[in-house]
Amino acid sequence: MNSNSLVSISDISKEEILHLLENARYFEENPNHKILDGKVVATLFFEPSTRTRLSFETAVNRLGGRVIGFSDASTTSSSKGETLKDTIKMVSNYVDLIVMRHYLEGAARYATEVTDTPIINAGDGAHQHPTQTMLDLYSIYKTQGTLDNLTITMVGDLKYGRTVHSLLMAMQYFNPTFNFVACDELKMPAEYKEFCDQKGIKYTEHKDFSEEVINSSDIIYMTRVQRERFTDIMEYEKVKNLYNLHNAMLDNSKDNLRILHPLPRVTEIDQDVDDNPKAYYFQQAQNGLYARQAIICRALNIDIKEVQKS
Ligand code: CP
Repeated sequence: MNSNSLVSISDISKEEILHLLENARYFEENPNHKILDGKVVATLFFEPSTRTRLSFETAVNRLGGRVIGFSDASTTSSSKGETLKDTIKMVSNYVDLIVMRHYLEGAARYATEVTDTPIINAGDGAHQHPTQTMLDLYSIYKTQGTLDNLTITMVGDLKYGRTVHSLLMAMQYFNPTFNFVACDELKMPAEYKEFCDQKGIKYTEHKDFSEEVINSSDIIYMTRVQRERFTDIMEYEKVKNLYNLHNAMLDNSKDNLRILHPLPRVTEIDQDVDDNPKAYYFQQAQNGLYARQAIICRALNIDIKEVQKS
């Protein structure tokens, strides 16, 4: 495995996280460089994406590199039965870095075992989405001025939501208090609650998205109920509209509250929230560009001091 791969947020230390956030800040202020001249990056998306793929591709373009890849695996030889192993080995012959999204949990880890080319996990099933976490942390830091001692309320699909799983693990270094708001069918899996217990992270579970929970929060992290993860569509229909944030619910919220959402949203945030200054999800997605520029540099061993000279 290439040690510059990023498969799980637990692959990187607190110091590396903070360093990446510093570098994201640098790229926000200075987005254009030529430091990837001659480098080729593959974006292999076996699952749909708007933000992750396009922000990675924009990041490569803004750093002067080239991109190859696919956004629809049905157009590739995997539709003829080519294995993931063979696909990764072949693409590794062409590129310096692979950014990969796959519907199977563990697919990105598996990819690191069949190639020495660095792999960045752009989401593997319901497991992890570490680059989303870096942009989430950057967004939290920018809006709160700190990552420490915050109350973070996670709402919706906490069972299948890879973004909340990664964020929960990353926050272990910053003494968070979590509210988990979900119905029984979508509650936070036991392994993540055990992780909180082991790390001494405070959390409470709620079925109601109550005024008390909202008004205690520094961050509300809304999530979509992911139809694509359900094997029983009736189960999805039963839970898909349980949590819906609308503007009036924010009337007595803290001044510093910000609403995050990895996007795409469906019905869980009303459009009347969009103009509220506490809504931050579109800026959050924009932050993905800068966070991913920093992550690409880490994967390719590019020193930010060299970047600053270019
Ligand atoms: N947040 C996120 O992963 O969005 P996409 O599915 O559009 O990439």
